[in-house]
Amino acid sequence: MSAGSEVERPSLGSPTVLLVDDRQENLLALESLLEDFECELVCAGSGQEALRHVRRRDFALVLLDVQMPEMDGFETAELMRGLERTRNIPIIFVTALSKEKKHIFRGYEAGAVDYLFKPLDPDVLRSKVRVFLELHQQKALLRSQAEQLERQNKELAEALHKLQATQQQLIVREKLASLGQLTAGIAHEIRNPLNFVTNFARFADDLIGELGEIAASDGAARTAEVLKVLGELGGLVKKISAHGRRASDIVTSMLEHARGSGGQRRAVALNPLVAESINFAYHAMRARDPGFDAAIETAYDEAVGEVRMAPTEISRVFINLIDNAFYALMERRESEDGGYRPVLRVSTENLGDRARVRVRDNGTGIPPEVAANLFSPFHTTKPAGVGTGLGLSISREIVVGSHQGEVELATEIGSFTEISVTLPK
Ligand SMILES: Nc1ncnc2c1ncn2[C@@H]1O[C@H](COP(=O)(O)OP(=O)(O)OP(=O)(O)O)[C@@H](O)[C@H]1O
Ligand SMILES: [Mg+2]
Repeated sequence: MSAGSEVERPSLGSPTVLLVDDRQENLLALESLLEDFECELVCAGSGQEALRHVRRRDFALVLLDVQMPEMDGFETAELMRGLERTRNIPIIFVTALSKEKKHIFRGYEAGAVDYLFKPLDPDVLRSKVRVFLELHQQKALLRSQAEQLERQNKELAEALHKLQATQQQLIVREKLASLGQLTAGIAHEIRNPLNFVTNFARFADDLIGELGEIAASDGAARTAEVLKVLGELGGLVKKISAHGRRASDIVTSMLEHARGSGGQRRAVALNPLVAESINFAYHAMRARDPGFDAAIETAYDEAVGEVRMAPTEISRVFINLIDNAFYALMERRESEDGGYRPVLRVSTENLGDRARVRVRDNGTGIPPEVAANLFSPFHTTKPAGVGTGLGLSISREIVVGSHQGEVELATEIGSFTEISVTLPK
């Protein structure tokens, strides 16, 4: 072995220790003392040679002889401290100087410097080296853990980024899908006011025809008749514009609802709103099927008072429920003979801080397989063009989703259906 040669040691990645001494026999002694350590030993015969080594590769520890010609151990250490790469390599000074002089070397990182005194005590040497090697290993472990953490962090950040991108895509897709539902929903909801508009427009058309006939006649009461028909026409035009406005309100409220803002809330007297909704639904039903009629029984609890709500939305709920009820009554009447008397029963009930509205019909009732999907959008048993299957899903969304209320179903096939809506006041 010569100064500067590397002793053969196994295991790549095992720590390397630099032994620095100008005396060959001292290096040999150190080597043999550390022979069985799990580390690689590199020898240097001078301070300059030691510096060359530490610049080129990493060391876990330097055992540095203090008394050397040309550049002594302290000078060598001083130069190591000046370099970024070598600044933190722990050093054990090997010296024949008295223990009192060991303070000569200062300013090195605390804990990274130790002293061995000649003559060397093999046990002390070995235990100090062991401590530094262990320290080195722990540092290496920490570093690799930190690197691993950093890698994982990076992976997580990438995953998060991907997730966010996917989420964005999903939101867009969801928006498109709900736009389809929204369009269908609006179509469904404005059908009722639109029925009124077309029917009243037809009546108005008839009246205009009548006016023409009156104008062509020469009866004495001509002027009075014209005035009477004009009065009726005026009434119709007002209704047409009122229902047109209702259609437009519905579109606005549905768009607001889709945007999450919901319709304007205010305290509204519940009983009149229910009565008005029955009226709307009844006339829509009569317009669809002039030959059908049903008994309408109402029971209003006067104590109900006002409920905070978006009235256009809640009114649509009742119209939907009553519309379904009329349809069930019509269906049952078609399948039964003479004795059947279709009845729609609507009642309100004061529950203190809540109010309940029940819509009950003695129609077909709802079979369990239909009841299971009752509130799913587009789930309908009605022929295409008659039902979209949106009525109840929209209604539930309004009551439960935007008004924190409840919708409950009670039904018996061939006997009755009752849907009750409970709203917090
Ligand atoms: N009162 C009822 N009696 C019997 N069946 C009902 C009643 N209400 C709802 N249903 C059943 O629930 C289904 C879904 O009702 P929903 O109001 O959601 O849609 P729809 O009435 O079919 O269609 P649309 O509301 O567009 O007219 C109906 O097709 C019907 O089978
Ligand atoms: Mg319906």
